Amino acid sequence: MDVRHVSSADAVSHDTPLLVLPVHESEEEADGHQPEVVSPAGLSEVISGACPAEDLKHKQGESCLVYLNEGDGPRRVLLLGAGKPSEFDLEATRRFVGHAVRAAESVRVSGLTVYLGSGVSVDGVQAATEGAVLAAWRFTEMKSPDEGDAPADVSNFEVMVDPEDLDAGEAGVQAGGAVGRAANFARTLQSRPGNVATPSHLAEEASRMAAEHGLEVTVMGPEELEAGRMYALLAVAQGSDEEPRLIVLRHNGGPDGEAPLVLVGKGLTFDSGGISIKPASGMEDMIFDMSGGAAVIGAMQAIAELSVPLNVVGIVPSSENLINGRAMKPGDIIRSREGKTIEVVNTDAEGRLILADALSYAQGFNPAVIVDCATLTGSVVIALGHHAAAVFGTDEDLVDELREAGDRSGERCWPLPLWDDYRRQIDSEVADLVNVGGRAGGSITAACFLKEFVGECRWAHLDIAGTAYGEGKLSYQRKGAAGFPTRLLVEWVRSRAG
Ligand code: BES
Ligand code: MN
Ligand code: ZN
Repeated sequence: MDVRHVSSADAVSHDTPLLVLPVHESEEEADGHQPEVVSPAGLSEVISGACPAEDLKHKQGESCLVYLNEGDGPRRVLLLGAGKPSEFDLEATRRFVGHAVRAAESVRVSGLTVYLGSGVSVDGVQAATEGAVLAAWRFTEMKSPDEGDAPADVSNFEVMVDPEDLDAGEAGVQAGGAVGRAANFARTLQSRPGNVATPSHLAEEASRMAAEHGLEVTVMGPEELEAGRMYALLAVAQGSDEEPRLIVLRHNGGPDGEAPLVLVGKGLTFDSGGISIKPASGMEDMIFDMSGGAAVIGAMQAIAELSVPLNVVGIVPSSENLINGRAMKPGDIIRSREGKTIEVVNTDAEGRLILADALSYAQGFNPAVIVDCATLTGSVVIALGHHAAAVFGTDEDLVDELREAGDRSGERCWPLPLWDDYRRQIDSEVADLVNVGGRAGGSITAACFLKEFVGECRWAHLDIAGTAYGEGKLSYQRKGAAGFPTRLLVEWVRSRAG
């Protein structure tokens, strides 16, 4: 999707197939909370002439479409409900623009222009642009080309800003475009099925992206992983014919030698559960078990594109979790890169095994901070549902930073504890650790397990099993891949750059 900003100075003559204007609910008690159209100067009369006041709706998602005369200027104007101005925050902006894109799809136009009022902020324009880019994304590459009535793709998005807001418009469109495309890249990788998106495929896509955006990339295969003593990653991979990979992306935006931020993402390209096999029903969703890895690869793209002035490393351990004659078995005791031995009582708790080695490897970069994200436990869906990821961390400030970045990006996370009482659930009789801590507090004991592999490093973990993919209920989403937490990671990294 092409994104740009345009000036409202010539709103009346600006040629666009669809101009979208917010209709807010007035906060004035006195006028009975009337709907109020936010319009660029010069267009107000045209619009009030074309749409009777009683037809205006201010509830989010409700709208009224008016057609203007042919000739110069907007052909259609959508007066789209935006709720109360005081509640029109960044996430409301994304959803508003998501509705606008859906409206463009339903009238089959390929472009739209959105005006949000005077005095817009960079963040507001960024959120609007994200909403548009995210809403327009579709995963079509595996479908035969449609004949006839395929919905038209919306491929052009403009934010109209007042002449004094052009700088904010430019910066916001640039940031929103980069973040939106990064999330969509993650969604595309997520959506590719297990027979396409194998560990080597993820590595190739990461390498291609790195070459395009000026990132350094290293990919480790079985020999390098053996040499690097990544026995836990290799133990998971040994049940499959597909070779594992460890993908490392580096953005050197900061001074030489400055401690990097390290992002780690679980890249399990299909999770059958292994010998502890999952039930057949819904198993197809386990193509999304590489969502954390996809988000890290996507986030690294945006970090490069936005030239963030920090050193950032992205690490994606990638494997399948399948079942062959060499597959890891319940009761096996395996070694890890860190040196700790692990009793595997359930081969379906594989994410923590591949992450154990990746986190241990991450320490080698002497990171300022490590943040990992993983579709790690079904248990987090019970705890928080689909509206927030769980965040765990060894440092309260870091957890707060991630929570705030989550609020701003619209990809929220909420803290759970890492107390020693939970840690005891993963004591093993026969090894240093057991890979499952029982049903109680399953997300917490999984996080406690990861903590064993980060040494003294400041670290946080996001369990994204409930948020990485879903029904696509929000206006800017679709069923399937959500790209979560690409936006959160980019927002957090940018916030660290001050
Ligand atoms: N990939 C799954 C977690 C998952 C569950 C992701 C639901 C997305 C949706 C993970 O590898 C897993 O199987 N976890 C087990 C752990 C258990 C065996 C301790 C789980 O959550 O059931
Ligand atoms: Mn599993
Ligand atoms: Zn898994």
